[in-house]
Amino acid sequence: MRDTISFTLNGKPVEVRNPDPTLTLLNWLRRECVLTGTKEGCAEGDCGACTIVVGDSSRAPHWYAINACIAFLPMLDGKAIITVEGLARNGALHPVQKALVEHHGSQCGFCTPGFVMSLYAHYRNNGALDDATLNDTLAGNLCRCTGYAPIIRAAKAMRDYPTIEETLLAPRQERKMLALCMTDPLTNTIKRYFAPQNLDEMATLYLQYPDAIILAGGTDIGLWVTKKNAVLETLIDIGQLNGFKEIIQRQDGLHISAGASYHEVHEALFDLHPALGEIVRRLGSTQIRNTGTIGGNIANGSPIGDMPPPLIALGSELLLRKGDATRRLALEDFFIEYGKQDRQKGEFIEAVIVPKPDPAARFALYKISKRFDQDISALCGAFYARLDNNQITNIRIAFGGMAAIPARAKAAEAALLGKDWNEANIRAAMKALGDDFTPMSDMRASADYRQQAAQNLLLKFYLGQDAPYLAKEVQHG
Ligand SMILES: Cc1cc2nc3c(=O)[nH]c(=O)nc-3n(C[C@H](O)[C@H](O)[C@H](O)COP(=O)(O)OP(=O)(O)OC[C@H]3O[C@@H](n4cnc5c(N)ncnc54)[C@H](O)[C@@H]3O)c2cc1C
Ligand code: FES
Ligand code: FES
Repeated sequence: MRDTISFTLNGKPVEVRNPDPTLTLLNWLRRECVLTGTKEGCAEGDCGACTIVVGDSSRAPHWYAINACIAFLPMLDGKAIITVEGLARNGALHPVQKALVEHHGSQCGFCTPGFVMSLYAHYRNNGALDDATLNDTLAGNLCRCTGYAPIIRAAKAMRDYPTIEETLLAPRQERKMLALCMTDPLTNTIKRYFAPQNLDEMATLYLQYPDAIILAGGTDIGLWVTKKNAVLETLIDIGQLNGFKEIIQRQDGLHISAGASYHEVHEALFDLHPALGEIVRRLGSTQIRNTGTIGGNIANGSPIGDMPPPLIALGSELLLRKGDATRRLALEDFFIEYGKQDRQKGEFIEAVIVPKPDPAARFALYKISKRFDQDISALCGAFYARLDNNQITNIRIAFGGMAAIPARAKAAEAALLGKDWNEANIRAAMKALGDDFTPMSDMRASADYRQQAAQNLLLKFYLGQDAPYLAKEVQHG
């Protein structure tokens, strides 16, 4: 049992005794360290004003940007933290800062530290400086003053400035088991925070504390605290589990450990099918993809999560674990009804198994959202069809945003199976799709819009209009 966490902050070793497990890094930086360069804009991972850079030697690249507003302090144990205050050396600005100054990339300045830190991660990781890559790097940073053009100009010029000496310590090589027990001074409720090191420890702990909250990347859970003031009594942080980020190609498909972040899974999914890479690239922002996991996206049971529709269409399975026992479950059967998944007490998602798409099959995936990048789907449609002599011999269509759970369009599938691949049959299936779902209206889209768009996506799939894919290399730190 240990009650102290340690990390480096701008190159200096720091120890924090008995931190509240759900104290956000942002609040700690601003309130305890008075490092107020890191700003709070939204406290929900959207605006990027709180962006800081983390160093972790177990990850490639080692340095990456995250949102401090939704990261809990103990998640940083054993890592290196760099804030905007840590960049300048002896009065000399870092090239990223210098470029932003000289290209007028800052006006009111509120967003600037966040941009600096996103660009700093990009700079350290030698990221490309083309428009697409920079847009991707900065999609999670909002600026209401500059119109972005001067920021992009600065980003393109940042390597033209002389480098300054980096005196930051390397992140620690190893993590130790972290187990904190502490008293919440406000409620006097005992809070527990565990960071098991391996899967067996995790499985045992979760049996012991079946009501514990599993904390993966925290990109959902962070908001429970910052937006809903949730008091989380027992957390099991799986972000530090050895082997829980593995991605292995096996005979039955790609085995993705549930703890793999979007950043880590992007390339492997892109290689499986570019459409899968593209949906990951458009998920949240660089900061969110650096921490959010595929396991969290499935486990949260959200009807508008981006990963379930394509994974269901491809026939993916979950590997669920409880104690020493594991079971495999078709992903589509995991979602029972809104807020209810087929997961027993003490059981967690160990891995997702994604079969290799049949080379003879067509596969397409469409995300419809109000904003192209860094936005939640209004609906997401995934289509998988195998044709033999122009006859549809296998068809799987899955949607998010059309029902209370991600689900297959069974009536549309039935209307197509065994039929010829032609427009008349597709149009009949579009009608049948109307029987599959009764979508709801909300701030993202009206029910009518969703219904019409879903039907049109099927036609788009038939017409072979795939969504455009960006190259897989676009993701950096
Ligand atoms: C700014 C922002 C933008 C976003 N954009 C998108 C988007 O475009 N598309 C999208 O789909 N989502 C988006 N999200 C939502 C979120 O990032 C994803 O759902 C993410 O995948 C959650 O993963 P996580 O590791 O952060 O989960 P966490 O927040 O750690 O956990 C989420 C839930 O899953 C449970 N859990 C996690 N791992 C496991 C496991 N292995 N076994 C059992 N239970 C587990 C947790 O207990 C919790 O209930 C966004 C979020 C933010 C803040
Ligand atoms: S404060 Fe807006 S992303 Fe963190
Ligand atoms: S400079 Fe004002 S918000 Fe970006």
